[in-house]
Amino acid sequence: MAFMIITIDGPAGAGKGTLASHLAKIYNLRHLDTGLLYRAVAFNMFQAGIKAEERQKAFEVASSLKPEDLNNSSLRDESVGNLASEISVYPEVRDSLLKFQQDFAKEASSNIGGAVLDGRDIGLVVLPDAPCKIFVTASPEVRAKRRLKELHEKEIDSIYETILEDIKARDTRDQNREVSPLRPANDAFILDTSELGINEVIEKACLFIDSRYPQAKKKA
Ligand code: DC
Repeated sequence: MAFMIITIDGPAGAGKGTLASHLAKIYNLRHLDTGLLYRAVAFNMFQAGIKAEERQKAFEVASSLKPEDLNNSSLRDESVGNLASEISVYPEVRDSLLKFQQDFAKEASSNIGGAVLDGRDIGLVVLPDAPCKIFVTASPEVRAKRRLKELHEKEIDSIYETILEDIKARDTRDQNREVSPLRPANDAFILDTSELGINEVIEKACLFIDSRYPQAKKKA
């Protein structure tokens, strides 16, 4: 086996990021949370006072994105996520982030043996030839409850109904945009995490991965 590429797609809050970082550790792969790219573009736009409607400027910001822009804890803010979702509908923004993601997978493959990339369109658009695709999903209500718990843990005051509304609005936008709408690839393994704990999610994902990469080595 030359290298291992695992794609993980799904809606906000389904548990993609958590699963992806566990899998990267288990199989010793590099991990890219591609949502961070869109978030970094949004954050840099905020900083420069650029509005979501300023399409050409959004493209310019995306084209000048640097890897170090991803190391910023403010990228996780709700407001950054919402702007990221808005500007992710622009095809030219998506295009300019495409190469970054493909280069990451290529470099990780030659340096460490492979990568896990999580996002919305990795299996369909970014790495359509990847042999191992997982689509993680969960009901909007479960995702809103998880998000609320995370925010409470960070002592951020939030209301369940507002979070649920935000999640539904983001799903609608992500699923209905013209370019790269959120949907599973035909050959993706669909993993509904609504009723599962993290260990069960990891176990199911590993079973699928091992069926696609029978030679894969796992850390105990
Ligand atoms: O996964 P996240 O919440 O960090 O992503 C923020 C937004 O970025 C999301 O609403 C849609 C967009 N996104 C995308 O369009 N394609 C990706 N591969 C990853 C994120």
